[in-house]
Amino acid sequence: MKRDLLTVGDLTKEDIENILKRSSLLKEKQERGETHCSLIGKSLGMFFEKASTRTRVSFEVGIYQLGGQAIFLTYQDLQIGRGETIADTARVLSRYIDCLVVRTFSQKVVEELARYATIPVINGLTDIHHPCQVLSDLFTIFEKKGRLNGLKLCYIGDGNNVANSLIEGATRVGINLTLACPDGYEPLKEIVREAIAEKGKGGSHIEILRDPLKAAEGADILYTDVWASMGQESEREKRLKVFSPYQVNSKIVQVAKPDVLVMHCLPAHRGEEITDEVIDGKYSIVLDQAENRLHTQKAILEMLMTN
Ligand code: CP
Ligand code: NVA
Repeated sequence: MKRDLLTVGDLTKEDIENILKRSSLLKEKQERGETHCSLIGKSLGMFFEKASTRTRVSFEVGIYQLGGQAIFLTYQDLQIGRGETIADTARVLSRYIDCLVVRTFSQKVVEELARYATIPVINGLTDIHHPCQVLSDLFTIFEKKGRLNGLKLCYIGDGNNVANSLIEGATRVGINLTLACPDGYEPLKEIVREAIAEKGKGGSHIEILRDPLKAAEGADILYTDVWASMGQESEREKRLKVFSPYQVNSKIVQVAKPDVLVMHCLPAHRGEEITDEVIDGKYSIVLDQAENRLHTQKAILEMLMTN
């Protein structure tokens, strides 16, 4: 049976551990210059309704390195832009390609594509989730810290798609998560509720605070993202005001652990959610984070396309 990756919540702890192990192996092979063509002759469709640098390029390069090819499709290129239904599009694409990555606004669109497609569908970001980002972030954290269980991750800023997926990821691998978000900008309630229920089963601790300094105390990892995500451009001015106390700057870094890792999924709005000093500073691992999208997504493609 085909398997999709629509949210991190679709995965078990074991799935995540397997993806991380495989990411590490594929990264080593790539660094040794070893070719590893597990997906020869396979085609990856990429349907993107939002801009992308990292996700697009890392998936395109990733499938190529595995011996396959990518076909990049925008809304305007497809007949979907002229009224063909999502269901028909999914059914037709399934006759040509072997997997589909989708970046769109509504989570429902990805779900509908997945429902009608007979091939695996991967969520390459929606307004609510960004699973590929978070899986590769878990790989990056594991690479740097040698463990995940028991670490304290502090996310400062908007309770957006990245925050939602971080909650789902952290609770599955035992990372304790403290979020500092302004009132009204918290992550999705159902996701927080599920994460809190996990705690009862011996999972990780999750809390949402208002005070970023308090939230960052003793953190192993500080993570932030833009204050206005794609699609929220009209709220930008308002958000700049609301979020101004939530900037990750050297004051915040000082209260975290001395060996804190600073993470940002990128693209960053420098001088807003993070200062130049911090994003370019010695604790920042944002470029390793960006690189690891490639390795982890290759592991995801293998997991979904070779079964
Ligand atoms: N982090 C991330 O998904 O970046 P892109 O929007 O450039 O793909
Ligand atoms: N939260 C951001 C992430 C970009 C990778 C957005 O959705 O625009």
